[in-house]
Amino acid sequence: MKECRHLAIIMDGNGRWAKAQGKPRTAGHLVGADNVRTIAIAADELGIEYLTLYAFSTENWKRSSDEVGYIMKLPAVFFKKYMQEFLDRGFRMNILGELDRLPASTHKVLDEAMEESRNNTGLNLNICMNYGSQREITLAANAYAKDVLEGKAPLGIDEAGFEKYLMTKDFPPVDLLVRTSGELRISNYLLWQIAYAELEFVPESWPEFTPDVLKRCLAEFSERDRRFGGVKNV
Ligand code: IPE
Ligand code: IPE
Ligand code: MG
Repeated sequence: MKECRHLAIIMDGNGRWAKAQGKPRTAGHLVGADNVRTIAIAADELGIEYLTLYAFSTENWKRSSDEVGYIMKLPAVFFKKYMQEFLDRGFRMNILGELDRLPASTHKVLDEAMEESRNNTGLNLNICMNYGSQREITLAANAYAKDVLEGKAPLGIDEAGFEKYLMTKDFPPVDLLVRTSGELRISNYLLWQIAYAELEFVPESWPEFTPDVLKRCLAEFSERDRRFGGVKNV
């Protein structure tokens, strides 16, 4: 089986899933958050080392204040329910995004989750919260320029040098990107990191994305022929 070390998922379709059940969109976000636990455990058991999940984008602020407010309160609910289990399993929580633009209480909960799991060496569970790839790259470019001005970095770094300024600096490139709910777009997610990722778009919404669907995605991934610009081995 071809190795998928780093799996990224655009967890889409919570709202439509809820609407289809006659429930408010927020009900979909609650079930979606619970599914993060289910899929993190399944991914860990399937040998994934890095699971990077898109929870809230820099564009999602456009939604109603009720919906945004609900999502901002979810991390506290989520970690209260599941943090102990994650710690027992050795998961390391990393939160990617511009956290200082989140409500202070949300930021605090996310910082605590990172701090509590900082020394763990198991699954890296990366949750992208107020994350946008263009913002990430812009921040990186600014940080690099500042380092040059302050004499801390040379002018003319290469790709590996630039990656050190990205929020994903500690992680390998994405092997497989899955988007749920049938939408065929990237929506400002990990643009640099998916340069050579395999892409899969599945019809299931995020609340319907079960460990069996994950296994199906990984089976398909293992059939792909990754060439990285080279020539197929025959
Ligand atoms: C994904 O589900 C969760 C977030 C973007 C916060 P959506 O809320 O986008 O659900 P749909 O796509 O509207 O169904
Ligand atoms: C992408 O989903 C963001 C997250 C899953 C967090 P969206 O639902 O926001 O994307 P668009 O608006 O359909 O492109
Ligand atoms: Mg959506």
